[in-house]
Amino acid sequence: MSMTDAYRSSEADPSGGATTPKRLATSIRDLQKHYVLKSETVKALRGVSFDVPEGDYVAIMGPSGSGKSTLLNLLGCLDKPTKGSLMLGDDDIATMSDDELAEIRSERIGFVFQSYNLIQQLSVVENIQVPLYYQGNIGAKERARSIELAERVGLGDRLDHRPTQLSGGQQQRVAIARSLVNDPYFVLADEPTGNLDSVTTEEILTIFDQLNEEGRTIILVTHEDFVAARAKRVVRLKDGKLHKDEINDEDSRKAARDFQRKHVEQLLKEVDR
Ligand SMILES: Nc1ncnc2c1ncn2[C@@H]1O[C@H](COP(=O)(O)OP(=O)(O)OP(=O)(O)O)[C@@H](O)[C@H]1O
Ligand SMILES: [Mg+2]
Repeated sequence: MSMTDAYRSSEADPSGGATTPKRLATSIRDLQKHYVLKSETVKALRGVSFDVPEGDYVAIMGPSGSGKSTLLNLLGCLDKPTKGSLMLGDDDIATMSDDELAEIRSERIGFVFQSYNLIQQLSVVENIQVPLYYQGNIGAKERARSIELAERVGLGDRLDHRPTQLSGGQQQRVAIARSLVNDPYFVLADEPTGNLDSVTTEEILTIFDQLNEEGRTIILVTHEDFVAARAKRVVRLKDGKLHKDEINDEDSRKAARDFQRKHVEQLLKEVDR
């Protein structure tokens, strides 16, 4: 089933009435990114087009150098396209100034990185609040929201811990809570489980599953098939172009979740023995 057909059928009104198109978290058209170096120009993205409806869960895959991080950086407003458009709501980031990009980044983008990127001197709650500092408004309401998010990712009893006092999985949970604090267009994650063991990876993937079920749009880059199998959709890049765009049907996603959870249960039993 093609991407378009899948969304069309999932949106079809059973009563036969008019269909309501899903709102888009982002829309990308002929996106190109060229890096101009002294002796050559690297065409990292050579014309990529796709839409991400709100509530989607997209895994971006592809060989090393295929343009995955370049695409994620553009989605995250860290860089501007050479050509083409990238819409966030009604704004095309291609036409924005650097200041406007910085503003959108702090107000509406959530990032999760492989290496967590927490500030060592700050506590869990303070780290979660970091995106709000850029907007200059930290009051009781913001603090309450940060605590709520810490609880949401299972760190309610670690609010005043520093990153060095946390495990890798707990640090990644702080990063996920931080990514949600500004109510982002989507959560962008570049290899979020790349540094984690199987048990902790499963904990993090379960949080992403839950967030997506609650309606959060998630776009993550991964090299692992079992991570991509949890997403609703897998977009594959090759040589800076869109190679494949495929749906993971609900049965295969459930099978992937069940398989991984059994695997983790087995591992935990072996540790107990
Ligand atoms: N800042 C830059 N300057 C010049 N070339 C770059 C820059 N960033 C990336 N590239 C080049 O663009 C291409 C795509 O790089 P990108 O980092 O997007 O790949 P990737 O798919 O994320 O790979 P990996 O799986 O190894 O992380 C590569 O050929 C890379 O060398
Ligand atoms: Mg990369």
